[in-house]
Amino acid sequence: MDIDIKNIPTHVAIIMDGNGRWAKERGLERVYGHANGVASVRKAIKASLDMGVKYLTLYAFSQENWNRPAAEVEALMQLMVSNMKLELPSFLEQGVRFRYIGNREALSDEVREEFDYCERETAHCDKMTLVIAVSYSAQEELALAARKIARRAVRGEINVEDIDIKMMEGCLYTSDFPMVDLMIRTSGEIRISNFLLWQIAYAELYFTDLYWPDFDEKEYEKAVKYYASRERRFGKTSEQIKQEKTLV
Ligand code: FPP
Repeated sequence: MDIDIKNIPTHVAIIMDGNGRWAKERGLERVYGHANGVASVRKAIKASLDMGVKYLTLYAFSQENWNRPAAEVEALMQLMVSNMKLELPSFLEQGVRFRYIGNREALSDEVREEFDYCERETAHCDKMTLVIAVSYSAQEELALAARKIARRAVRGEINVEDIDIKMMEGCLYTSDFPMVDLMIRTSGEIRISNFLLWQIAYAELYFTDLYWPDFDEKEYEKAVKYYASRERRFGKTSEQIKQEKTLV
């Protein structure tokens, strides 16, 4: 990939949407959209490595997606298991560390064991971290964090006054990942759908009309260029940010 962008996001999160519509427009079953979406996953990993994105988090299956027809759920799970098996050698070759986030208990033994295996096998890889969110709900993640902290307080290990942002972050699934810099959503929908609500506090948001199976390196590069063009102020004024830049 031919890219010369100074300000590359460290952590990109993607809501991969539009597989069903992509398939429907071609007169195909929805699962073909998901199967074709896997090629876009591969492209996004490769492009992240090329650009120097260190963390790529993909929303593969939300907690709410369990309500889809059983056949679609099963096809998606099988697609994930078979592709994890297929991709593991290339992860190891490319230095991609695999991590899973979501409600582990809701997964079948087969899916959980596959994710656990890939996490273990790639634990030493350090070029980039690929995070897959499956059976994930940001609201559930926050409720879980609140529960963990409340238990510590009840046991007398912490004072209620000790509860702060850092402690909350330490209790999220993403405790050892940085905050999201850029969030991308495909398919023209302008919403977050319960994905990484805490972690996107200061993320730049990029929406494209392309369906996920049509998302390629070019569109990814466009999103990263958009990110690079933004002035991230984190609550400060534009003048302050410019001054800080001249001091560096
Ligand atoms: C959203 O499109 C997409 C999903 C729910 C599944 C995404 C999963 C993959 C691309 C496979 C991932 C595989 C690996 C190995 C990570 P939709 O079905 O909601 O589309 P629609 O809005 O057009 O109906």
